[in-house]
Amino acid sequence: MEPTLAALLDDTWRGLVRAAADRRHPWRTPVLATVAADGSPNARTVVLRAVDPATRTLRLHTDGRSVKTAELARDPRVALVFWDPRARVQLRLRGSAALIREGPEHARAWATTPPAARRDYATTLPPGTPIASKDIARGDGAAHFAVIRVRVMTIDRLALAAEGPLRAGFAWEGDEPRATWLVP
Ligand SMILES: Cc1cc2nc3c(=O)[nH]c(=O)nc-3n(C[C@H](O)[C@H](O)[C@H](O)COP(=O)(O)O)c2cc1C
Repeated sequence: MEPTLAALLDDTWRGLVRAAADRRHPWRTPVLATVAADGSPNARTVVLRAVDPATRTLRLHTDGRSVKTAELARDPRVALVFWDPRARVQLRLRGSAALIREGPEHARAWATTPPAARRDYATTLPPGTPIASKDIARGDGAAHFAVIRVRVMTIDRLALAAEGPLRAGFAWEGDEPRATWLVP
């Protein structure tokens, strides 16, 4: 049976929710693209931590001293790209990011971060600082931990199937998505 646009959108959100909970899901590690201070693009891999389809939000974690954090503070526009080689589905999401450095959402996210992962935020020098030796000093991670909350505004879904590629676009202005098939 041919899928409907509504079914594809449901399937997309279900997949994203699963990916945030499953370390082995390929959508667990999307590429996050930001706009650098000089207007050029910048991109890196991140871990998808949580997804809420009702509010169209994704949660990511980072070091609040990282380059991406400074870029997002200056320009909140982001793109995220996901690729699942088994299902052969690419997702391209665009949206707007908010940085959360304190408060209940920040505290909840830190509380669910295991000790080994907390070490990532505990370097005494900011991420990306050139250092003379590969040995790095660590202090307290909580002070540097930051949550990135992305509100999704568009989804471009491309499925590569044996019978031919299928591409669909979804865009939100209010609560209801505008959905359309796209030429792949
Ligand atoms: C599989 C994988 C997962 C990663 N997850 C995160 C993450 O969740 N948050 C993060 O800030 N960096 C993560 N990184 C590191 C980033 O890709 C990047 O190197 C680092 O955050 C510095 O990026 P920036 O200088 O653009 O801020 C991950 C890297 C890999 C390879």
